Amino acid sequence: MPHPRFALTPVAMTGPRYTRLIDSLPATVPFVGPEEHERLAGRRFTARLGANENGFGPSPRAISAMAAAAGDAWKYGDSTSFDLRTAIAAHHDVAVENVLVGEGIDGLLGYLCRLMIEPGDPVVTSEGAYPTFNYHVAGFGGVLHKVPYAGDHEDPHALIAKAAEVGAKLVYIANPDNPMGTHHPRETIEAMIDAVPDGTLMVLDEAYVEFADDGTEARIAADDPRVIRMRTFSKAHGLAGARVGYALAAPGLIAAFDKIRIISACAASLRQARWPRCRTRRGRPTCVSSWQAHATGSTRSRARTG
Ligand SMILES: Cc1ncc(COP(=O)(O)O)c(C=O)c1O
Repeated sequence: MPHPRFALTPVAMTGPRYTRLIDSLPATVPFVGPEEHERLAGRRFTARLGANENGFGPSPRAISAMAAAAGDAWKYGDSTSFDLRTAIAAHHDVAVENVLVGEGIDGLLGYLCRLMIEPGDPVVTSEGAYPTFNYHVAGFGGVLHKVPYAGDHEDPHALIAKAAEVGAKLVYIANPDNPMGTHHPRETIEAMIDAVPDGTLMVLDEAYVEFADDGTEARIAADDPRVIRMRTFSKAHGLAGARVGYALAAPGLIAAFDKIRIISACAASLRQARWPRCRTRRGRPTCVSSWQAHATGSTRSRARTG
C-alpha cells in the first residue's frame, strides 16, 4: 500500500530537467583515461603515455608525508589550505593572498570559467590546444574562438589579435604547450601580457614550466591584473593522483574564487610539504623546487607533451 501522501495520480515521467545549456552539449568527455581504454580494448597496456604522468612518481618525502597524514583523512582539510599556500607564496616570493590552491589546474580552470563565463561570452584559444580548458568553457556556455598554430607553436600574436577582435573575456596559452611540447621564451609571454586587451584576462598554463629551458618562466608581477598563471604538482612533482594545483594572480581575483570554490578539496597531507632549494642536473636553479628533484638530485624526466 503506498503511503497516502504519495497516492497521487500517475503522471508521465519527465526525467531530470537539465539546463538548456547542458541539453545542448555533446555527450563527450575531454579525456578518456587509460583504464577505460583498457576496459574497452579488453587488454592491459604496457605503458601509460597519454596523460603526461610522471612515471618516476612522487618524492619519497612526499610519500612519507602523505602516509603519515593518511590517518587524518577523517578530517576535512584546512579550508584555506593555509600552510600549503604559505609555502607556495614563500617559494614564489609573493603574498599568500596571491595564491589559490585547487584540484589541479583542471579544477582551477573550471572555477575560472565559472567565475568569468556566461552563455555567449567569447573566449580565445588555439586550435588543438589543451582540450580541458575548452570543455570548461563549453560547460558554461562560452563561445570558443580558435586561432591556428604558427608551425608547431601557439601563436601569441594571433591569440591577442583574436582576443581584441572578439572582445574575449579569457585568452588561453600554455607555456610550454601540450600537445606540441614547444615553448616560447619568457620575453614573448611578457610581451603578450603587455598586449592583452582591456577587459581580457590571460590564462597562462604553466603545467610543464619546470621542465622547460632557462628563460621560459615569465617574470610577472604578483599583482598584475592582466594574467592568472596556473601551476601543478601533477607533472614535475609526480603527484597527478593527488589533484593539487595552484594559481598565482592578483589578490582580488584570487579572493573571487572563494565565492564558488569547493572548500577543503585538496590533499591535506601536502600541508607537510617543505620546499627545499635545489638545483637540477644542469646546474640551473629550479623555478620550482621539486620534491622529486630533491630526492633524486635531478628532475630526470622531461615532459612528454606530444
Ligand atoms: C597543458 C596542461 N594543463 C593542465 C593539465 C592538467 O593539470 P592538473 O593535473 O594539475 O589538472 C595538463 C595535463 O595533462 C596539461 O597538459
